[in-house]
Amino acid sequence: MISLDVNIKELKKTYPVIIEWDEIRLTRQKINNYLNGGKFLVVISQKIDKLYGKELGFTKEEKFVLKDGEHEKNFENYRKILNFAQKLKLTRKDAIVAIGGGVVGDIAGFAASTYMRGIDFINIPTTLLACVDSSVGGKTAIDTSLGKNIIGSFYQPKAVLINTNFLKSLNDRDFKTGLGEVIKYAFIEKNCKAEEDFNLSNFLSSNIQKIFEKDNLTMSNLIQICVKLKISVVEKDEKEAGLRKILNFGHTYGHAIEKITRYKKYTHGEAVIEGIKFAFKLAMKKNIIDKNYKFFADDFIKNFRFNEISAFNMKKMSEIMLTDKKSNGKTITFILPINYFSVEEFEISPEYLLSVTE
Ligand SMILES: NC(=O)c1ccc[n+]([C@@H]2O[C@H](COP(=O)([O-])OP(=O)(O)OC[C@H]3O[C@@H](n4cnc5c(N)ncnc54)[C@H](O)[C@@H]3O)[C@@H](O)[C@H]2O)c1
Repeated sequence: MISLDVNIKELKKTYPVIIEWDEIRLTRQKINNYLNGGKFLVVISQKIDKLYGKELGFTKEEKFVLKDGEHEKNFENYRKILNFAQKLKLTRKDAIVAIGGGVVGDIAGFAASTYMRGIDFINIPTTLLACVDSSVGGKTAIDTSLGKNIIGSFYQPKAVLINTNFLKSLNDRDFKTGLGEVIKYAFIEKNCKAEEDFNLSNFLSSNIQKIFEKDNLTMSNLIQICVKLKISVVEKDEKEAGLRKILNFGHTYGHAIEKITRYKKYTHGEAVIEGIKFAFKLAMKKNIIDKNYKFFADDFIKNFRFNEISAFNMKKMSEIMLTDKKSNGKTITFILPINYFSVEEFEISPEYLLSVTE
C-alpha cells in the first residue's frame, strides 16, 4: 500500500491519497476507517454499480446511482443528491462518498462542499484520469448550458482511496484518456519541482507493455508518480494563481477540439494529446525548441497509439480559444514546451496562430 499526504498549508489541512490493489469487497471497511462512526451517502457510477455492485455491497437506501456521461454532471442531479442526503438525514458529522470517474467525483464533491456548508467527502476514483488528475487538487464542479464546470468550488476531500483493481474493467478509450493526462505530466515534470526526479517519460517508455496490461504494481507506481507531481504543484498553488497553470499544457487547444466537436467525437485525453502536439508545433514555429525535441515528442506520443484527429479550421479554433475562461479576449494563453520536460506560459495572437497552419 502506498500512502501519500496532500498538505494544503492555506487551510492547515492534510489528507491522504492511498494507492493499493486490495479486494474490492473491503471498500466499505476502508471508508469507515476515515469516518468517526458517521453515516455516509455513496454517489456511484452506474457502470461501477453494474460491474462491482455485489462486491461493494451498498444497499439501495444508501447509494445514489449516477448514469454515465458528462451531461449527467448537471444541476438536476446535484439537486437530487442533496435531496437524497436530506432523506438519509445526513448531518455535519456524516459524509458523501464518490465511487466512479471524474464526473462522479466532481458532482459528489460539489454536493459535499455545499451540503450544510460542507461535510466530509471521500473520493474513490475508478478511471485512470480520475486517479491521476481529478481526485487530487480539490476542484469540484457541475456543468451548465453555458459550459463545463461553470458552477463549482475548491473543496479538499477527507481521503482519496485508489484501488488499481477497478482499472481492469476500463475500455481501451477510457483508459487512454487517462494516459493523455499522464503524458502531460511527463512533459511538465521539471516545472512541478517535486522532491524526487521521477523521469516519468523514461518510466512510461520502459513500462509500456505492463501499462497496457494494467499490471497492478506498474499502475500503482505510475499513479504514485503522477499524484506526487500534482501534489507538488497544488501544494504550491492551491487556487491556480500561478504555477498550477502548467497543468493546462495541451488543454487550450484540447478544450477547443472538445468544444468544436460538441464533446461527442473525441475523449478528453485524445483532445489533450492533440493539444500537446499542437503546442510542440507552435513552439518549433516560434523557435523556442529545436526539431530534435519535437521529433522526440512525436515519437514518444506515437507509442501510445492514440486515435488520429484531423486538422480543424484554425480561424474557428482561435475564436473558440479566445472565449476560453482563461483568455483575456485578445490573445490566447498557451503553455508551450521550452526545453526537455519544461514548459512556460505564452500569449499568442490569433493572427500568429493562422500562420502556424499555413
Ligand atoms: N476536478 C478536477 O480537477 C478535474 C480534472 C480533470 C477532469 N475533471 C473532470 O473529470 C471528468 C472526466 O473524468 P473521466 O475521464 O473519469 O470520465 P467519466 O467519469 O465520464 O468516466 C468515463 C467512463 O468510464 C466509465 N468507468 C468509470 N470507471 C470505470 C471502471 N473502473 N471500469 C469501467 N468503466 C468505468 C464511466 O462509467 C464512464 O462511462 C470531466 O467531467 C472533467 O471535467 C475534473
